[in-house]
Amino acid sequence: MNEPLAERYLSLLKKSLLNELYIENEVRIHNFMMQIMFPKATTLEKLIHEFLTAGTSELGNTLRTMRSEGSWLMTVVNDENGNPVEVKEARNFAFVPHTMIGRARLDNLQECMHAVLADNVAGDFIETGVWKGGSTIFMRGFLKAHDVTDRKVWVADSFAGLPEPSHPEDDGVDLSANTMPYLAISEAEVRELFNRYELLDEQVVFLKGWFRDTLPAAPIDKLAVLRLDGDLYESTMDALNHLYHKLSPGGFVVVDDYNALPQCERAVTDFRARYDIRDHIERIDKVSVYWRKA
Ligand SMILES: C[S@@+](CC[C@H](N)C(=O)[O-])C[C@H]1O[C@@H](n2cnc3c(N)ncnc32)[C@H](O)[C@@H]1O
Repeated sequence: MNEPLAERYLSLLKKSLLNELYIENEVRIHNFMMQIMFPKATTLEKLIHEFLTAGTSELGNTLRTMRSEGSWLMTVVNDENGNPVEVKEARNFAFVPHTMIGRARLDNLQECMHAVLADNVAGDFIETGVWKGGSTIFMRGFLKAHDVTDRKVWVADSFAGLPEPSHPEDDGVDLSANTMPYLAISEAEVRELFNRYELLDEQVVFLKGWFRDTLPAAPIDKLAVLRLDGDLYESTMDALNHLYHKLSPGGFVVVDDYNALPQCERAVTDFRARYDIRDHIERIDKVSVYWRKA
């Protein structure tokens, strides 16, 4: 693809994956949800006003900021009558978009992929923990935009949500489909989304199952980008244990949950200590980090 057009395609692809193009409608949906969750705040006038001003309302601005930062956990502050007055402490707040990682992390992913192409770092791209698949769709779109045909995108997930906590470091952190059904997206749904973007082909490989079962035997030769987004100690450690040695020198490790979930940070710290990894950890946004393998 001609270079400026490739960049424009990737820019549009990111906006679409983040639902930035139609964010007013997402704000409207959130406004309706708020009205349902907090019925005391519901008056017809308020509802109509919120609907009509969705693009510019407080909630609209909050949602835009959260989307750029990659936010999803939402704390609503209510007044004494139970009316929502403030939305704060949000992370990856995303029901509608096709990735919850937000703009800064999607930009970082693009920079990592650019760097490995520019520096001829050999290997495929993988994300361990894909949810709706948006980040991996972006990986495939990036390869397409740059006419790269000799690298694959590996899409690793249970497609049934997180495992129940079994590692002592994950004690008490149940993010499985029992408590977070929202994180369980089926393989069929992810494939359908890849298809919608016209990016499902033989360069995309699905690894379905728990990381502990799929990653040890995955027929991956070399990796250039290893994106970890499995939230738990177990999920982060399984990915590092089975994949880090396949990462080429000059390749990138991105840790989505590093500053958000202490068990994820602990897995990274334990792994780096065990193998004496001293590559500098760089911040991407409030919660995510990456390092480049020396
Ligand atoms: C936070 S979501 C990933 C968000 C995604 N990266 C995006 O771009 O929106 C976490 C995902 O990790 C998956 N997951 C976590 N631990 C896993 C494990 N041990 N084995 C398989 N899948 C796992 C879950 O099913 C879920 O889809």
